[in-house]
Amino acid sequence: MTGSELRALFLRFYQERGHTIIPSASLVPENDPSVLFTTAGMHPLVPFLLGEPHPGGTRLADVQKCIRTGDIEEVGDNRHLTFFEMLGNWSLGDYFKDDAIRWSWEFLTGKKWLNIKPAKLAVTVFAGDPDAPRDEESAAIWKSLGVPETRIAYLGKDDNWWPAGGKHPGPQGPDTEMFYWTGDAPAPETFDPKDERWVEIWNDVFMQFAKTPEGTLVPLAKKNVDTGLGLERTVAVLSGKKTVFETDLFLPLFAVLETLSGKNYGADEATTRAMRIVADHVKAAVMILGDDRGVTPSNVDQGYVLRRLIRRAVRFGRQLGIQGEFCVPLADEVVRMYQDAYPDVGRNRERVATELLKEEQKFRRTLEHGLKEFEKLFAKNGAITGEDAFVLYTTYGFPLELTEELARERGQGVDRESFQAEFKKHQDLSRAGSEQKFAGGLADHSEEVVRLHTATHLLHRALKNVLGDHVMQKGSNITRERLRFDFTNPEKVTAEQLAEVERQVNQAIADDLPMNYDEMTTEEAKAAGAIGYFDDKYAQLGGKIKVYRAGSPDKGYFSVEICGGPHVTHTGDLGGFKIQKEEAVAAGIRRIKAAVTGPKA
Ligand code: ALA
Repeated sequence: MTGSELRALFLRFYQERGHTIIPSASLVPENDPSVLFTTAGMHPLVPFLLGEPHPGGTRLADVQKCIRTGDIEEVGDNRHLTFFEMLGNWSLGDYFKDDAIRWSWEFLTGKKWLNIKPAKLAVTVFAGDPDAPRDEESAAIWKSLGVPETRIAYLGKDDNWWPAGGKHPGPQGPDTEMFYWTGDAPAPETFDPKDERWVEIWNDVFMQFAKTPEGTLVPLAKKNVDTGLGLERTVAVLSGKKTVFETDLFLPLFAVLETLSGKNYGADEATTRAMRIVADHVKAAVMILGDDRGVTPSNVDQGYVLRRLIRRAVRFGRQLGIQGEFCVPLADEVVRMYQDAYPDVGRNRERVATELLKEEQKFRRTLEHGLKEFEKLFAKNGAITGEDAFVLYTTYGFPLELTEELARERGQGVDRESFQAEFKKHQDLSRAGSEQKFAGGLADHSEEVVRLHTATHLLHRALKNVLGDHVMQKGSNITRERLRFDFTNPEKVTAEQLAEVERQVNQAIADDLPMNYDEMTTEEAKAAGAIGYFDDKYAQLGGKIKVYRAGSPDKGYFSVEICGGPHVTHTGDLGGFKIQKEEAVAAGIRRIKAAVTGPKA
């Protein structure tokens, strides 16, 4: 079984059952500041799962390109990937559990389709908890199809709920997952989901609820189905391969790497690992660069992830002993493999090659400088300390393994423990940094950005004053030029309401309110009437959260909001406030763009 065979088979199956085939959405999400990349097939469909009509109707199927980089350091083992494809079928208020499960089963076991022996399959269903009932319905459907009770496992929200854990606001519900037995011995009669020889291949999610930002589960008027069948894994198990890397989705890339390096894939562990990393990372980089909404390497957001992928690939290519630039020939092969399924990567091949080469050359120069620095450090002490290794890591992107390799060539080791200690310090700091970013806090602390950050608080408060307390922040993004604020509101904000919001913010600026913060426990913050995310993560950061207030105890506060800061000291510093635009982002979510004039001279 090849990747393109599986794609075609899946889409044909659902097309025959009345589904409209829709193209993959972009890897870079539109209108969603909460994630950098599309991480699941359902992600671009959220507005439709929430009730907006889809032009393709109520039955849809697709192959979606996805990127997940949370486990990037794990790539190289048997299963982690940063780029992957998800096959999915959707019902938007159309069919529900019965058809969804029946069709999944038919596709998996039907002679015309994947023709998997039922003895090799097992399923999980939601066990139920105080919030939501056990999914007896799904279990009964599986049994009616011939799945024995011993092959059905009942698990909680961490496993059988989507999104996992059920903590996020938005559409969600119980799911049922299908597992394939990959062991050499026949599959045991009783299914043990902890046995790793059972590999999850497909997930049918039954979106029956929406979780409000306050955490209440409300039944959706229209129930939806969202499914995700992992392409790479399914191709692997159907071809009898133990790993996704031994399928046609990777082998052609290893062939290119073998020619470039003169080494054989599988020759030894280090070579295998390095080739997997290079192939995976270059593939992901090509798909990001080749996307119609593609980004280029940079130090922020998607561009940073892209840069990291390319640099890791270059490092491991060097480890393979490849002389000179190698990303472009590999990228050409990726384009060849994927352009039929994703035409944009073919269309954008020029940009892919140009940007890849630029970044590769740039990093090679940094590597050269890093090597010089290494020599200097080594000459000083005749050794490399853990701290030195860490400097090389942060400044020149040298991974510990590379520094160790260089030290070994000179008969020395590196103190891993002190490196790890430095690393951990740094990680804690950057974790705190990303928490702050999530809180609406900022990486860029320029005066312009800080002013707009304060303006965002005033705007948030004024919106609640004018539109009502249902207004909840859904996202915030600030550049030096403007703020962007996404919030819940069922309809368009009228010109009169916008004028009133603007007036209130300008009044708060004219009053030149002092802006101060206190550290409080979550309880104290609630009692103070603070708005913003009450998230356990903040409490974990140090027990207390920062609450910023605009105003004073005697005259009262205009705004009280949980936030990491920083802010201006007095609102007068904003000068004046002007709303530039109000628009829809998704069903029930509006966006405002606004700017400030800055302090009066
Ligand atoms: N959205 C579900 C998943 O990604 C299908 O597993």
